[in-house]
Amino acid sequence: MRDAGRAPEVDFDVLAHRTLAANDAAWAGLRDCPVAWTPHHGGHWVISGYEAVAEAFRDWETFSSARTDPAVSSITISGARLPLLVPEELDPPEWHPVRRVLAALLSPQAAERLRPRARHWARVGIDRIIGSGRGELVGDLIFPVPAAVTLEWLGFPEADWPVFSHAFHDAAAYPHDTPEYRAAAAAGAAVLGRVTEEVAARVAEPRDDGLTAIACAEVDGTPIAREMAEALVFMTIGGGVDTTSALASAAVLHLHRHPDDRARLLAEPDLWDPATEEFLRVYPPARTHARTVTRDVEFGGCPMRAGDRVLLSEVAAGRDPEAFPDADRFVIDRFPNRHLAFGAGIHRCPGSHLARIVFRELMGELLERIPDYRIVEPEVVEYPNWSMIGGWAALPVAFTPGPRLGP
Ligand code: HEM
Repeated sequence: MRDAGRAPEVDFDVLAHRTLAANDAAWAGLRDCPVAWTPHHGGHWVISGYEAVAEAFRDWETFSSARTDPAVSSITISGARLPLLVPEELDPPEWHPVRRVLAALLSPQAAERLRPRARHWARVGIDRIIGSGRGELVGDLIFPVPAAVTLEWLGFPEADWPVFSHAFHDAAAYPHDTPEYRAAAAAGAAVLGRVTEEVAARVAEPRDDGLTAIACAEVDGTPIAREMAEALVFMTIGGGVDTTSALASAAVLHLHRHPDDRARLLAEPDLWDPATEEFLRVYPPARTHARTVTRDVEFGGCPMRAGDRVLLSEVAAGRDPEAFPDADRFVIDRFPNRHLAFGAGIHRCPGSHLARIVFRELMGELLERIPDYRIVEPEVVEYPNWSMIGGWAALPVAFTPGPRLGP
C-alpha cells in the first residue's frame, strides 16, 4: 500500500484471483485498509471494511447504482455489457414503485407459500440420483431446484426451465473465452425473447402467476411500462436462479470437508437457521457490487470525486474482525450474524426470504436422504472467477444408495 493522489492506493485487481482461496486471500490482504484506491479497471475505489460497506450500501444518494452508460452494467466493475437490471440499476424516485411490485410478490408470507414447491423439487432432484449411489450434485439438484421454484412460480412452461437456468448458470460458471460461455450469452438473448412473449401474453390474457402480477402491475396509478415489466421479470429470473444455487454448492462442499458441522446439523436441525446465515457470511454468492459516486465527498478519510467508480465487497465485510469475532472461522451457531450477503439499504435483496426457504428445503432433503455423501474432490469444478458471483460448477458425489420417494 502507498499514499498517492487518491490515497491510500493498493494494487488490487478483483478479476485476477480465479479461485476461492486466491480471492479470499486477496481480500484478506486489504484488511488494514477498509477504503482504498486501485488503478485497475480504469481506477476505482475499493470498500472492504464492514462499517464502510454497510454505510455505502445505505447511502444511495452518494453511491448510485443507476447506469451512466446505457450499454454497460453499473453494478459490476468490469464494464460488462448486460441488459438493464431493474430495479437494481434504478435510483429513487424511479426505483420506488417498481421495487414495491417485487416487495409484495416476494414478501415473507408469499415466499412461505412456495416452501412446499421447494420441498417437492428437492425431492424430485434427490430421486433422480438416489438409486445409483453416484451423481453430480450441481447438475442434478443444486442447480435445477431454485430454477424450478422460481420459473414455476413466475409461470414459464417447463420446456423453458433448462434453457433459462443454463443461460444464467453457464454465464457465471464458464470463462468468457469458452464456447459454453458464448452459448450462454446467446441463450440469454433467447431468454429475453421468451420474457417479451410471455409478458405480452399475460397482458392479453392474465393468469394466476408471477408473470401476470408483474406484467399487469400498476406503477404510480398507471399500468407498468412493458419494457419495465420485462426487465423486472428478467432480473427476478437472474436473482432466483443462480445465487441460491451458488450458496447451496458452497454449503454442500463445506459439509463434506467439515464432517463435524454435518454431524451437528444432522443431530440438531434447529441449527439450520444460524448455519444458513453463517454460510451466507462465509460464502456470499454475490461477492461484490459496484456503484458510482454522485458528488465530491470525503468517505472513510478518502477524497472521492463525482463520477468515481466504487467496488463494495460483501465478502470482505463478512470477514471483518471488527464486526465478527473469529471472522475467518465458520461458526455454525454464530449469533448475532449481521452479514451483508443480501446487501443493505434500499436495494437489499427482496428475494432473501425465498432464497433462505429454497436453500433450507434443498439442503434438508439432501442431508436427510443422503447423509453420507462424499464429494469426489479431484473432479470438483469452481466458477472461473470469484470477482462478483462465486460458487461451484460441478460437485461429483458418491453415497450409499437409497429408495426413491416417487411423485
Ligand atoms: C442466496 C441467494 C441470494 C443472494 C445472496 C442475493 C444477493 C443480493 C444482493 C447482495 C442484492 C443487492 C444488490 C445491490 O445492492 O446492488 C440483491 C438484490 C436483488 N435480488 Fe437477490 N440474492 C439472492 C436471491 C434472490 C432471489 C431468490 C431473488 C428473486 C426471486 C432475488 C432478486 C433480487 C432483486 C430483484 C434485487 C434488486 C433489488 C433492488 O434493486 O431493489 N435475489 N440480491
